[in-house]
Amino acid sequence: MVPQHVAMIMDGNGRWAKKRYLPRVAGHARGVKRVRDIVEFCIARDIPYLTLFAFSTENWKRPVDEVNHLMGLFVSALEGEVSKLHKNGIRLRVIGDLQPFTPRLQALIASAEARTAGNDRLTLTIAANYGGQWDIQQAFGGWLKARHAAGRSTAEPVSPKDIDLEPYLAMAYAPNPDLLIRTGGEQRTSNFLLWQSAYAELYFTDTLWPAFDAAQMEQALAWYAQRERRFGQTSQQVLSVAR
Ligand code: IPE
Ligand code: IPE
Ligand code: MG
Repeated sequence: MVPQHVAMIMDGNGRWAKKRYLPRVAGHARGVKRVRDIVEFCIARDIPYLTLFAFSTENWKRPVDEVNHLMGLFVSALEGEVSKLHKNGIRLRVIGDLQPFTPRLQALIASAEARTAGNDRLTLTIAANYGGQWDIQQAFGGWLKARHAAGRSTAEPVSPKDIDLEPYLAMAYAPNPDLLIRTGGEQRTSNFLLWQSAYAELYFTDTLWPAFDAAQMEQALAWYAQRERRFGQTSQQVLSVAR
């Protein structure tokens, strides 16, 4: 089975560069190249959703030069790649709190999303200034606002099952990720898609992101194909439905 939605934590750019006595930013530049290869791979394999973690809500804590460089890379990638994405039938979405970005970056994101909105071959989502905790908080805000607009009083008691956050999550347009890949050797989510990856298969590899190529992706998919996804049921139940 091919996953419908692959999410990736692209980690290890800095270490890749350090090993080569290069500045950390050289690793980020190489990382952008890898994104192209993985996008092509997903198109070739008919994977309809690819989501990439590019910048977390915690990454602002990095040295200002590195943050600025990452923002610059984002701008140049949008300026340089959107036409190609569009030609290839890719819909681009950006999730995260875009408010702190420069007006120029925000405008580039808005125009890229609008231009590619009609495409459906692959939905490529870039998570930028994204945090899973932020997502749940903003979704709750959206839910509360809708409830208020419907004239419900804030004093009314609510039970957990009444709080339907799903329509308000940043990626409400996509199915939940089936496969979550993290490169760079760490085995943590670092505040990525906390809600959405409740039943994602988690794949960790020591390969650093700038070295993660199509062959590595192939390995991850082969591993995924061996998983039995039970969603809380027993193996017997799952097998009887599959038969
Ligand atoms: C991932 O690579 C890219 C971003 C978080 C922006 P890192 O920059 O985290 O690289 P390492 O983990 O320090 O090697
Ligand atoms: C996770 O990588 C975020 C991205 C890949 C964008 P980090 O390098 O920021 O994660 P930690 O700090 O090692 O957990
Ligand atoms: Mg890292």
